[in-house]
Amino acid sequence: MRFIPLFIVLLLSTGSCKTKVSLEDAGIDKNELIANVATQLKSSPLLKITDSISGKKVFPRTVDPSGKLKLVTKRDWTSGFYPGVLWLTYGLTDNKYWKDHATSYTELLESEQFNGSNHDIGFKMMTSYGLGYRYTNKEAYRKVLIQSAQTLITRFDDRVGCIRSWDHHRDKWEYPVIIDNLMNLELLFWAWKETGETVYYNIATTHAKTTMKNHFRSDYSTYHVVDYDTLTGAVKFQGTHQGYADDSCWSRGGAWALYGYTMAYRETQDIAFLKQAEKVADYIINIAKLPSDSVPVWDFDLKDKTNEPKDASAAAIMSSALFELGTLTENKDSGRTYLKVANAILKSLSSDNYFNGKGENEGFLLKHSTGAKPSNSEVDVPLIYADYYYLEALDRKLRIKKQLN
Ligand code: GLY
Repeated sequence: MRFIPLFIVLLLSTGSCKTKVSLEDAGIDKNELIANVATQLKSSPLLKITDSISGKKVFPRTVDPSGKLKLVTKRDWTSGFYPGVLWLTYGLTDNKYWKDHATSYTELLESEQFNGSNHDIGFKMMTSYGLGYRYTNKEAYRKVLIQSAQTLITRFDDRVGCIRSWDHHRDKWEYPVIIDNLMNLELLFWAWKETGETVYYNIATTHAKTTMKNHFRSDYSTYHVVDYDTLTGAVKFQGTHQGYADDSCWSRGGAWALYGYTMAYRETQDIAFLKQAEKVADYIINIAKLPSDSVPVWDFDLKDKTNEPKDASAAAIMSSALFELGTLTENKDSGRTYLKVANAILKSLSSDNYFNGKGENEGFLLKHSTGAKPSNSEVDVPLIYADYYYLEALDRKLRIKKQLN
C-alpha cells in the first residue's frame, strides 16, 4: 500500500473501571488507506457482473490455482463476507455506490434464512443482513435475521449443550462442534435483544459455556473439533480438522475463540466470558507468540515455522477482536497490550507484504491467508473473510478514536 505505515500511539487514561483509550495516529493516512481499499475493490472483475446474476456462483471466496477469481454459491459458509466487505466500505466512505452494491449482494442471500444444514447461518447473515440492518434499519432485514436465528437454534441439542456445527463426516463424528461456531452466537444474542425471547440467550450462553469447558486446554489453546455423544452429552473426541495435529492449536481457531468470547462478553456482560477472552488473548500473545510481523502461520504449534504459509485471516480476526477486548477489559495494562497488538497486526496487514498491489489478486484486499492446510486447500491465497475482518478491525479502530475525540 502506498501510505506511510507508521501507526499509532496509545495513551491509556487512568481512574476508570473500564480501560479508556486515547489513540493518536502517528502517520497513517486514513483517507489514503480507505481510497486504496475502494480502488482495490473496484478492480475486481466481480463488480462488472452484478447485473447478470442468476443465483449461481456469484460470491467471491478466493482465487483458484491459476489466479482467477473463485466464486461460490449463497450456500457456501463464506457467502456473507463479500456483502459485508461492501457494507463496511460503505460505512468507511459514506459513498452510496457501495451501499447499492452491498444491498444487491445482501438480498441475494435471502433464502439462506431457512438453510439449517450447518451452523454457518450466523456467519452468513450477520455479515450481510446484520450489517445491512445496522446501516439501513430496513424492517425486511430484521425479519430475515429473526428467521435466521430461529433456523440456527434448531441445531441445538439440550443434552450436549451445543449447536451442532457440521452434518458431514457422519462416519467420523457423531455430533461435531467446532470452535468457529462461537461466531454464530452473535446472531442469537442479536435476536434475543431484538425480540426479548430468552430462548436465544439461553442457547447462546449454554453453547458458550459448554465450549469453555470442552474446547480448551489448560493453557487456553483450543481444540478445533469436539465430538459429543448425543445420548449422554459426553465428549468423545477432542482434536482437529484444519489444524496441524489433534493436540495443536490451529491459528484461526484461536482467533475465533478470542473473538467469540469477546463478543459474548459484550452482549451479556457475563464476566466469565471476559475472563475467557483475556485468557485466550494471553495465550496468543504470551504463549503462542505472534512473529515479528504479527501475522501467524496457519498453526501455532508447528515446530519449524520457517517455510510454513501464513494465515492473514487469523491475524485480521485477532486484530478486530483485540480492538474490542482492549476497550472492554477492566485491566489497564492488558487493555494497553491488546490495543498495541491489534494495531501492530493492522499495520502489518496494511503494508505491501500483505495488502495486494492495485489490481492484484482479482480485487481482494489481502494476500497470504490459508484455508485448510492439511487438505492442501486454499494455501497462501487471498480469502474473502480475511478482507472482511481486516476492514472490521479498521472500522473498530476508527470508531474507538472517534469516541474519544
Ligand atoms: N469457519 C471455517 C474456517 O474458519 O475455515
